[in-house]
Amino acid sequence: MPVDLNNARPLDWDSATLDADTKGMLNNLQANILRAHVREHLSVLFVRFNDVKEGRRFLRELAETKVKTARRHLEEVRDFARNARPGTPYVGIGISKAGYRDLGHSVEEVRKFADPVFRDGMKRRVAVVDDPPVDQWEKPYQREIHAVIVIGDARPGPVAALREEILGDLPESARLLGEETGRGLHNDAGDGIEHFGYVDGRSQPLFVKDEVDREPKEHWNPAFPLSNILVADPFAPNRNRHFGSYFVFRKLEQDVRAFHEIERNLADELGLVGADRDRAGAMLIGRFRDGTPLTSKPKASGGPVSNDFNFDADTGSKCPFSGHVRKTNPRSFGREVLMARRGQTYGERTDDPTDDSPPENRPSSGVGLLFMAFNARLIDQFEFTQQSWANNPDFQNPGTGHDAVIGQGTRSLKVTFPKVWGKPEMSPAQPQVAQTVTMKGGEYFFMPSLAYLNNL
Ligand code: HEM
Repeated sequence: MPVDLNNARPLDWDSATLDADTKGMLNNLQANILRAHVREHLSVLFVRFNDVKEGRRFLRELAETKVKTARRHLEEVRDFARNARPGTPYVGIGISKAGYRDLGHSVEEVRKFADPVFRDGMKRRVAVVDDPPVDQWEKPYQREIHAVIVIGDARPGPVAALREEILGDLPESARLLGEETGRGLHNDAGDGIEHFGYVDGRSQPLFVKDEVDREPKEHWNPAFPLSNILVADPFAPNRNRHFGSYFVFRKLEQDVRAFHEIERNLADELGLVGADRDRAGAMLIGRFRDGTPLTSKPKASGGPVSNDFNFDADTGSKCPFSGHVRKTNPRSFGREVLMARRGQTYGERTDDPTDDSPPENRPSSGVGLLFMAFNARLIDQFEFTQQSWANNPDFQNPGTGHDAVIGQGTRSLKVTFPKVWGKPEMSPAQPQVAQTVTMKGGEYFFMPSLAYLNNL
């Protein structure tokens, strides 16, 4: 029975009754797509090949020796939960449309990729998503990138060793165009945070039964069909078993100083006092720093971060429509748009992102998010989120403004904020908060099935 991508029942990956095609899918899909892989320490390499045979051999050998399957990853996760045995490092391979061409696939063949945005590449989509012009991107991203190699692990040692080994195996004809280093940040509770100091990575579409079973589901169903992330790999032999996923990579620099200034000014303008001052930043993100959804009454600190909420009863008096999580997941509709986010923070800081030191002590450049996400259709998921939701000041409710975190484009409207949580009284109209996230470059890739890579 071919894998039913639209089946809403989460995958019981280890069931004895699993059909042969689903088994085949799990044995050929790269890890980190179905379920997030640990990537506290992360190395991202951007490569260009220049020789068909050598490029193919390099990828084949890399896949054969270092890339693990989705199934192996799920087994490792289970083994860690039961026996505290750490898993092996993650190595993922993504290929751009230019990469497929350089590996010898004709223009006609590359048209087999149904996603038009992948076939264009990110540089040609700048105007659509209001990205900075390509000549303002960091140099490596201005070049034609053929492949991305993502290396992740809980410890720095294995990542450094694999990076060395992989670079050592790179053929003479190939070039390392650029690289990024990711490093997880945490709050005192041990939850992963991004550079503005907020818990990140909590809300994800979940595909695997063990993960779904753990979640409360009163207000939000976290289970998603595989059709949100998987498509048949057009170049692999068996369309019923061999799947891949479109992978978006964007380097997003965060001006942490400016963001904290905005939080402070907004709290002052709204006259917020005491603990209620935290609501200023929470209205930009849609969650408090510790991850508590803004729609819930602030809870006593501690306990797991909730994802069981929706905005049904909130007309904007709790979470503004411009709040990042409300823009990027309205929850009452648009489930097919949700991507599997797999990003990681980058950049060194000398300050402590979790303390309350003033904005002046915060970095204004050099730190940010390596945004990474898996999609079944970039045009309907990543690009749609960025263009039609985040950059659209009228999305859901006219005149409510750009996404306060990732919105791009001119912010000419004036907006209002609720003065008191859950009460209708709004602030006087004021300019939208300034943009504090800047795109520094990126590319669209396809993470093919191992059946393709092993046959190169
Ligand atoms: C530097 C840039 C960014 C920062 C600081 C940031 C920060 C956050 C934070 C703090 C959360 C809440 C934690 C969670 O629910 O997991 C979140 C959620 C989310 N973000 Fe971002 N993000 C950034 C870029 C993006 C981009 C570029 C997109 C897509 C275009 C995006 C899409 C989402 C989505 C879909 C969610 C989950 C919403 C939900 O399901 O409730 N983010 N982000």
